[in-house]
Amino acid sequence: MKENIAVGKVLYTREEIENRARELGKQISEDYAGEELILLGTLKGAVMWMADLMKEITVDTKIDFISASSYGSGTTSSGVVKVTKDVDMDLYRKNILIVEDIVDTGTTLKFLKEYLEDRNPKSVKICTLLDKPSRRKAEVYADYIGFTVDDLFIIGYGLDYDQKYRNLPYVGYLEN
Ligand code: IMP
Ligand code: MG
Repeated sequence: MKENIAVGKVLYTREEIENRARELGKQISEDYAGEELILLGTLKGAVMWMADLMKEITVDTKIDFISASSYGSGTTSSGVVKVTKDVDMDLYRKNILIVEDIVDTGTTLKFLKEYLEDRNPKSVKICTLLDKPSRRKAEVYADYIGFTVDDLFIIGYGLDYDQKYRNLPYVGYLEN
């Protein structure tokens, strides 16, 4: 890949994303009023979105991170997901809000949701920066969605191509 096309096309600017985090943070704060919340970020893609979102949440909040990867060849996802960094906190009877970068086929999230539900939390919901519904294979829906995107390869704002571009301060896409 040539470096000069590496930055791709801008889909959402930092300001647009921060504004959306403000809106969703307000809604989440209302929905969990009087409750305690654990924001559970998925490494590594969700870190930037997590940082925006957590600033906008006004209920008692704790944070933790989990890392999961799906195995099998990229095009024919086997649906096998492995947790490579587990949650540190006790999740029993806690409200968990999984903070994701993007829901694509949904394989990872479906697994994660079931994995977390085994710990008997009070609730498990999902807040994703991006949703790519056209690619969905698993029955999984996000409760809070930043933006819905077409079937593009997204980079930036935490999302990578071959571990690069996570630091771009906007959501963009790579043209092929
Ligand atoms: P899923 O299991 O197919 O829903 O997606 C799992 C993960 O693949 C997401 O959490 C992202 O980390 C990554 N992913 C999916 N689509 C994209 C994309 O367009 N750009 C970068 N990463 C992506
Ligand atoms: Mg991810």
